[in-house]
Amino acid sequence: MADSIDKVRADLEAVSLDTDEQIETFRIKYLGRKKGVITDLFAGIRDVEGPERGAYGQRVNELKRRAEERIDEAKRRGASAATVDRPDVTLPGRPFPVGSLHPITQTAEEIRRVFARLGYSVAEGPEIEDDFHNFTALNFPADHPARDMQDTLFLEPPPPQGSGVLLRTHTSPVQIRVMESSRPPYRVIVPGRVYRNEAISYKSYCLFHQVEGLCIDEGVTMADLKETLRVFAREMFGSDVVMRFRPSFFPFTEPSAEVDILWKDDSGNGGRWLEILGCGMVDPNVLDAVDVDPERYTGFAFGMGIERIAMLRHGIDDIRLLYENDVRFLAQF
Ligand code: DAH
Repeated sequence: MADSIDKVRADLEAVSLDTDEQIETFRIKYLGRKKGVITDLFAGIRDVEGPERGAYGQRVNELKRRAEERIDEAKRRGASAATVDRPDVTLPGRPFPVGSLHPITQTAEEIRRVFARLGYSVAEGPEIEDDFHNFTALNFPADHPARDMQDTLFLEPPPPQGSGVLLRTHTSPVQIRVMESSRPPYRVIVPGRVYRNEAISYKSYCLFHQVEGLCIDEGVTMADLKETLRVFAREMFGSDVVMRFRPSFFPFTEPSAEVDILWKDDSGNGGRWLEILGCGMVDPNVLDAVDVDPERYTGFAFGMGIERIAMLRHGIDDIRLLYENDVRFLAQF
């Protein structure tokens, strides 16, 4: 008898109880009212001789308690696995917000892509500039109004009082830096920040972004400039874009022009002309300033405001929105 109790005990410990089905089979096998192994051992108590009967009964009782304990444990394990431990793989994932590139960055990147296809590489220059690169080498006469304190944020007083270190007012000084540091031909664009001492309003801010372009080689003509900018405008604004070249003036180009595109609105009045860039044939004086032979080389330059183009493309009506960094605004792009 003692032998069979030990054996039952060993068997009962070996059964695995991972599913509800296994638990139920176990219960019926050991504790079932009819033919349960332990139930039968209880019935066998009658056959045990007097003095051993107490000890026998105690051991069978223990066995029963152990079987019940295993069932309880297994049920508890099952319940907690269902509610806590086991992830519900059918639940949808938790979304987390994904950022996006700033509309100015997106627009600059698009401009860069268009000109990359036309063979332009990207150049950069410092935002803190000197008078020579920002003005003198670009053929600004000493008394030109663009040197006025009104427009330029000087870090040092302008000459003759000081050195005239300033925050660059345009990306054109990088034309000079590119031509100083390498030989022609040149075909570069220069995206970057520029600064102006202007009253802040819906259309102007104290800092903004420009993309400068410079193309210098033997035999480059104004026809190349027009075709380059026509390709650019079609890529940026669509193949049905309507654009015009309007005569203008810049000290560093001769002749100079501004490009307007026709912006159609819903009013039905045919739309408005909006200026997107300045351009022209690089003035021989500028080439002279950087020792490029103007008899041999000619070329064109252009400069556009990135904010203006981003605002046109996305219908943004206040430049300040681009600098507030309100995620409700930025998340739309
Ligand atoms: N630098 C000029 C500005 O900031 C824009 C510009 C005009 C750049 C004509 C050019 C150019 O390269 O050829 O207003």
